[in-house]
Amino acid sequence: MQIENRARKTNLPKNSKRVVGHIIMVLSMFFIFVVGTAGSGKSLLTASLEKWLVGSDLSVTVANIDPGVESPPYTSDVDIREYVDYGEIMNQFGLGPNGALVASLDMAVGNINDLREEILETESDYVLVDCPGQMELFAYRNSGPLMVSGLRGNDPAISLYLLDSNIARTPTGYLSSMLLGVSINIRFGLPQQALLSKSDILTEDEVERIVQWGEETYLLEEALDQSASGLSREYSKSILEMLSNLDTATGTIPVSAKEMMGFDILYGELQRVFSGGDNLYE
Ligand code: GTP
Repeated sequence: MQIENRARKTNLPKNSKRVVGHIIMVLSMFFIFVVGTAGSGKSLLTASLEKWLVGSDLSVTVANIDPGVESPPYTSDVDIREYVDYGEIMNQFGLGPNGALVASLDMAVGNINDLREEILETESDYVLVDCPGQMELFAYRNSGPLMVSGLRGNDPAISLYLLDSNIARTPTGYLSSMLLGVSINIRFGLPQQALLSKSDILTEDEVERIVQWGEETYLLEEALDQSASGLSREYSKSILEMLSNLDTATGTIPVSAKEMMGFDILYGELQRVFSGGDNLYE
């Protein structure tokens, strides 16, 4: 990847191919979409991951595609708010927060080529995209997936799906978060890595237990047996069976944007995916 990055800094046109020695190099930017429920820590993770990557001598473009965000903890290089005014849309059409988000995203889809062009002009190694938290609006309506596919074009991309430690610390919370993750995966069709966000609020034992739930299904089943009852237990077990059959297990990486923890392991996983492990170069 480092070789590819260096090659891209030459004057070759973007996305062109070049043969160096016997290696065919694809010149691309790497898109990382940060997704998760409202308040799961997307914006702070975007800010901290940018810091970490820049500290590792990589260039990073931060793109915000949440029209409603007010003061994110990073300076965005590309921002959907330059194209749509969430507050004005709310006032002009008499919409509530969710209606205004839907309308803003629908309108911004018309500017997707401009947003991508702005991103391409930055010529960075990585593009971090901070996404809206209202998953039922962003992932399940058409504008979200359109936005994701339009922004990345044919460049390699991954989504980082944040499981909030506050929710994932209980067996049913973890299971339902994983179920939502699969559903989001279906909508965006990207390779996806689950992150246990805000892991600094958990004890080491709690973090280890949650990571093990993702690796050894029987441990989660045992935990569900102890914590859920009646219909909730029946549903949980059926969902667990379905999730284990999907064989999507890439593991959950604990991270803390507050303490800048877990990014070395996350970066290793990004390298693995972007170097072709998940067939990103369609
Ligand atoms: P929305 O844009 O509203 O969906 O929120 P978000 O997912 O972008 O979450 P954000 O980054 O705004 O964080 C939400 C809250 O969690 C804030 O109070 C953050 O300070 C806190 N938070 C985020 N990351 C961490 C973390 O790693 N550790 C701790 N302890 N708190 C965190």
